[in-house]
Amino acid sequence: TAKPIQVKLVLLGEAAVGKSSLVLRFSSNEFQDNKEPTIGAAFVTQKCRLEDKVIKFEIWDTAGQERFYSLAPMYYRNAHAAVVVFDVTRASSLERAKSWVKELQRQANLNVVIALVGNKLDLVRPSSTGVETAGEEEVTSPEQGETEAEDMNPDKSPSSESGSEGAESANVEYRPRQVTTEEGEAYAAEAGLLYFETSAKTGEGVQQVFIEIAKKLPTD
Ligand code: GTP
Ligand code: MG
Repeated sequence: TAKPIQVKLVLLGEAAVGKSSLVLRFSSNEFQDNKEPTIGAAFVTQKCRLEDKVIKFEIWDTAGQERFYSLAPMYYRNAHAAVVVFDVTRASSLERAKSWVKELQRQANLNVVIALVGNKLDLVRPSSTGVETAGEEEVTSPEQGETEAEDMNPDKSPSSESGSEGAESANVEYRPRQVTTEEGEAYAAEAGLLYFETSAKTGEGVQQVFIEIAKKLPTD
């Protein structure tokens, strides 16, 4: 068999959006409920088969806490690919993701492949691709700007109906989505990024992120 193609990949994003959890899901197919924050950065390698090729991802999982921001260039310099993660239930994390994208587009490799990933999909209702009001029976799409920051305390949002998968089955109540799929996709398209939504908890969408990145990289 052919020698694996080495791909250096960096993960960036606000603290607690699930970067390390995505790596743990991809590399070990596991999930930890109370994962400790990353200090500095962590390094993991994981192979991935793509048609006739074997890709060896060399993954730098950076720390999202602000005090570590200045270390990031060490990890994204020379990266072939970057995964910029936000949390679909936290609007501020998309703003942080946008800042990382700008920095990457200015300072990283000219042809770095960037994927924007909205994580924690299991925390929003399965049918929900738009902003919703917690506890509403039907999901409607309010006009942009009309949506107040809803009560963010998941313990308080009433939730009783249906759903055998996702948050409710684990005795965790659904949270309102703060970033719509449409908004994420529109920004990604405008900035020239791949776009994915994932749950490191259930594993939904996680493999695809790495497979689609591998497909986009020049592999000769
Ligand atoms: P830093 O290392 O501080 O930058 O954080 P991080 O982005 O690596 O986040 P981490 O993977 O440590 O996850 C933070 C918390 O969110 C942990 O308690 C995880 O269990 C939880 N978490 C991560 N991904 C998911 C997810 O997809 N769904 C749910 N429900 N929880 C998640
Ligand atoms: Mg981490």
